[in-house]
Amino acid sequence: MSFTAKKPETLTLNPFTMIGKEWFLLTSGAVSNYNTMTCSWGGLGVLWNQNVVTAYVRTSRHTFDYLEKSNLFTISVFPEQYRKALAYCGSHSGREVDKAKETGLTPISIDGTTAFEEAKLILVCEKVYAQILEEEKFILKENLTDFYQKDAMHKMYIGRILNAYEKD
Ligand SMILES: Cc1cc2nc3c(=O)[nH]c(=O)nc-3n(C[C@H](O)[C@H](O)[C@H](O)COP(=O)(O)O)c2cc1C
Repeated sequence: MSFTAKKPETLTLNPFTMIGKEWFLLTSGAVSNYNTMTCSWGGLGVLWNQNVVTAYVRTSRHTFDYLEKSNLFTISVFPEQYRKALAYCGSHSGREVDKAKETGLTPISIDGTTAFEEAKLILVCEKVYAQILEEEKFILKENLTDFYQKDAMHKMYIGRILNAYEKD
């Protein structure tokens, strides 16, 4: 492992391209029993004077069950060569397949939770707030009809960044 701990303030990244275009794996659980899924929605920012990640996970995801049971989760961001692996982790459920085995990604134990050896950036987060989005709170109703007619609602997880690791 050649990860170096970094202060979140020193990271040079564009959150819009990192989340929306590169995507990330959201992982929760111990390395002996974890699940991971691809995400392209979320946020990086500051709340309650803490550096935070916000992730949105539909309650139907297998990863949701892991997030509910653990206080920790990780964000793993990968070099472009792992695009196919991320597409696989975003189109198959851990209920049916072993995503690490199928993609060749290597789960690693980090700060008591799980991330991936092939990542270029890992953020280890501790849940500080979580809430299922509520239909009646949608101000732009279009988003409700566009994204929730067939699929389960998202739960929003805000995690404070405990540690950030970058590959040298
Ligand atoms: C590019 C991409 C981005 C995705 N972003 C999200 C997301 O932000 N939130 C979400 O709930 N699902 C998202 N998904 C869908 C999950 O990754 C997908 O349903 C996955 O198979 C869930 O796996 P699991 O059942 O093992 O948790 C995304 C899928 C892809 C391909």
